[in-house]
Amino acid sequence: MLKPHGSDTLNPLYVADDAKRAALVEEAAGLKSIVVSSAAAANAVMMGSGYFNPLTGYMNLADSLAVAEKMKTTSGLFFPVPIVNVVEDASGIEAGMRIALLDPNVGGNPVLAIQTVDAIETATDEQMAFMTDKVFATDDMEHPGVKAFNTVGKTLISGPIEVLNYSYFAADFPDTFRTAPQIREAIEKNGWEKVVAFQTRNPMHRAHEELVRMAMERENADGAVIHMLLGKLKPGDIPADVRDAAIRKMVELYFPPNTVEITGYGFDMLYAGPREAVLHAVFRQNMGATHLIVGRDHAGVGDYYGPFDAQTIFREEVPEGALELKIFEADHTAYSTKLGKVIMMREAPEGHTKDDFVLLSGTKVRAMLAAGEELPGEFARPEVAKILMDFYQSQA
Ligand code: ADX
Repeated sequence: MLKPHGSDTLNPLYVADDAKRAALVEEAAGLKSIVVSSAAAANAVMMGSGYFNPLTGYMNLADSLAVAEKMKTTSGLFFPVPIVNVVEDASGIEAGMRIALLDPNVGGNPVLAIQTVDAIETATDEQMAFMTDKVFATDDMEHPGVKAFNTVGKTLISGPIEVLNYSYFAADFPDTFRTAPQIREAIEKNGWEKVVAFQTRNPMHRAHEELVRMAMERENADGAVIHMLLGKLKPGDIPADVRDAAIRKMVELYFPPNTVEITGYGFDMLYAGPREAVLHAVFRQNMGATHLIVGRDHAGVGDYYGPFDAQTIFREEVPEGALELKIFEADHTAYSTKLGKVIMMREAPEGHTKDDFVLLSGTKVRAMLAAGEELPGEFARPEVAKILMDFYQSQA
């Protein structure tokens, strides 16, 4: 199996020892506490789960700026996105203190992690704008990731953390939420060597299904790990439980048994397109995958990114050897009525035109479901379409 990113063994920051964890929870009750942002909480869950290996805590300002600028920390560690704990108000917190980080997403704000504070630094407006521009390639506050990054404050609390639970993810998605060590264990148990990872925040339609199948066949993979985002999304995106049910049905009916693991991770969507694709690659290597599928408009939103920018970044900006995991580059994929199957557009035979494809935008799909209109069988498997329709109709 591939080594984790940046170290020989995976070092999840979750405190697995029950007695130690109980002692830390007790300690937390007597510490100065802050309710962190949802993004900072998600970062803690990802570090706790081993996905952000080899980070040991939240980045300081110098590292955040360096990572934003050139995807490297000041000590040279490759990392594509600043992993920060940003707050509006850090009054009463000083370097050297231990503080309790409270979970904003669980009722009663229980403690999520303990942080040992290295530094408290307030970024200037210019520094915030610089990081925003580098990570998101836009400063438009309509961009959901830009908005989330720029509305929780400018003061960075850096330093190592000890993670005490996985927020709401373990309780709300017990069959799906998995940590990186758990996925490595499953891969090992299955005896898989080559493993394709599929990132998704959507229910899987026929194009998605076929992308996984094509990647498995062409990379000669032993298995695939569908790894869905379970955290926060922008309004209008399909909720995780509905998506999970749709994906499970699709795998059950259309993949051979024991070839696909259905899993998820606890992170809020950044919609950072290319930079997020690289982050995706880092954490898929950490969970033991050998390949990550990167298709059209990966982790994108609106038209902020070119459809294949998330592939270009790996060729043009990720330094040689920075990652061991490989990208499976997929072209725009859709059902061809002429050929009677799903294909990548670049592989269409001569004479085949755009009109021969069944193309539906996400917006169109949502409108159809909301209006109670059946999705075409060329676009979605009927069993998947039914789960989505039931959800939309229950909302009506
Ligand atoms: S994402 O934000 O999580 O990337 P989504 O769940 O829609 O969004 O996509 C999952 C993966 O499938 C991404 O790699 C994306 O590029 C790819 N993808 C989705 N639809 C298509 C398509 N029609 N053609 C090619 N790639 C696609």
